[in-house]
Amino acid sequence: PRHPAEPWRIKMVEPLPTTSRPHRRQALEKAGYNISLLRSEDVYIDLYTDSGTNAMSDHQWAAMMIGDESYAGARSFYRLEAAVHEYYGYEHVIPTHQGRGAENILSRMLIRPGHHIPGNMYFTTTRAHQELNGGTFHDVIIDEAHDPACEHPFKGDVDLAKLERLIHDLGPDRIPYVCVAATVNMAGGQPISLANLAEVHELARRHGILVILDAARAVENAWFIKQREPGWGEHSVAAILREICARTDGAAMSAKKDSLANIGGWLAVRDPDLAESARELVVLYEGLHTYGGMTGRDMEAIAVGIAESVREENVSARIDQVAYLGRRLAEAGLPLVRPVGGHAVCIDAGAALPQVPRDQFPAQTLAAALYLDSGVRAAERGVVSAGRDPATGHNRHPQLELIRLTVPRRVYTQSHMDLVADSAVRVHEQHAHLHSGLVFLHEPETLRFFQARFAPA
Ligand code: F0G
Repeated sequence: PRHPAEPWRIKMVEPLPTTSRPHRRQALEKAGYNISLLRSEDVYIDLYTDSGTNAMSDHQWAAMMIGDESYAGARSFYRLEAAVHEYYGYEHVIPTHQGRGAENILSRMLIRPGHHIPGNMYFTTTRAHQELNGGTFHDVIIDEAHDPACEHPFKGDVDLAKLERLIHDLGPDRIPYVCVAATVNMAGGQPISLANLAEVHELARRHGILVILDAARAVENAWFIKQREPGWGEHSVAAILREICARTDGAAMSAKKDSLANIGGWLAVRDPDLAESARELVVLYEGLHTYGGMTGRDMEAIAVGIAESVREENVSARIDQVAYLGRRLAEAGLPLVRPVGGHAVCIDAGAALPQVPRDQFPAQTLAAALYLDSGVRAAERGVVSAGRDPATGHNRHPQLELIRLTVPRRVYTQSHMDLVADSAVRVHEQHAHLHSGLVFLHEPETLRFFQARFAPA
């Protein structure tokens, strides 16, 4: 398999810490076997997330120098607003400090106790905000998305029968909106098709229900549509992105992903009254409606990043790099989520460590072993991330028990990907017969994966 040639060259380098195995063992014990608690100084190649870890371009850095730091009416906000209008097409843009800031405003604005929110698989912060406001999340993604081995090209698609049944059973009045992610992070970065999104939009519209897009990786989703969906191969990624948004009533955005920035986000809606309520809330939780918790220079960097993000050479090199890592692991026989997604290669830890009980966290266990082997930090996407069911208090057991090798944009080279692949293959071979995993020493109540501490079982 060939690694894509990057459509950029390196102008500034950041030295990486190299560590010894004894050092990593000590760091891992200090972190309570939770890779989220490792210090970055102790990590060699950091594939924890693609969120805010992107390398900005010279144009983005240059734009930061002209950031307007005025409290009210900053020029930089209007640049960002214009970029969102041009590339995403939404009428009203409310800036927030990052994606979950937008989720907070959206959830407070639309969700009341007793409401239900269908979505194409949960995301951690998204569902937490829905629940915090008294809502209940319902997974309406197609069954194929929960089967790691299934090769469906659009595993992010909504199962329309599931959605229709939910609307019928609960009544449209108790469903403020359908939350549609493009791509679906927890399924391994799987895209939704335009045809499916159109049907979701039409079904929701008939019942007076809004469709809100989680746009964090919608550009990557657009690239998959261009590659895989009949009729869209000749359209530009930029045009397809507009088509995705056109089939929704608003969006929550984490600019830390597609937009190649290190921080930032926004909420967008088409309805002027909703925009007005969102502006009232943003002042309370984020900052004035013309900065929303961002500096002027952040907004400049995002505005430039949005335009760069839809350039085909950027998005294709990004996704091809992830695919390269996926092919190297697949060739060595590692069980992966198929097809490989846009932002990450996900190893099926349930299949890799079949003897480790689910409540001893196979994915967390494998992620700790990978770090120990090479200093590569992955992320856990399994029982630890899924948390407990608020009603029963039991661990949720999502079908997917994954470790996610998340690739930041424009940051790592082919040699880094090869080192990651070699280490993952080694760890997979060494741990195939492992029988026990990890147990909690400390378990926080919300979003436990960030702060939890473990010990070997
Ligand atoms: N939606 C999706 C699909 C995400 O992946 C994230 C963040 C958010 C919303 C929240 O945005 O971090 O800017 O507040 N995902 C990161 C990750 C944290 O590692 O997957 P945020």
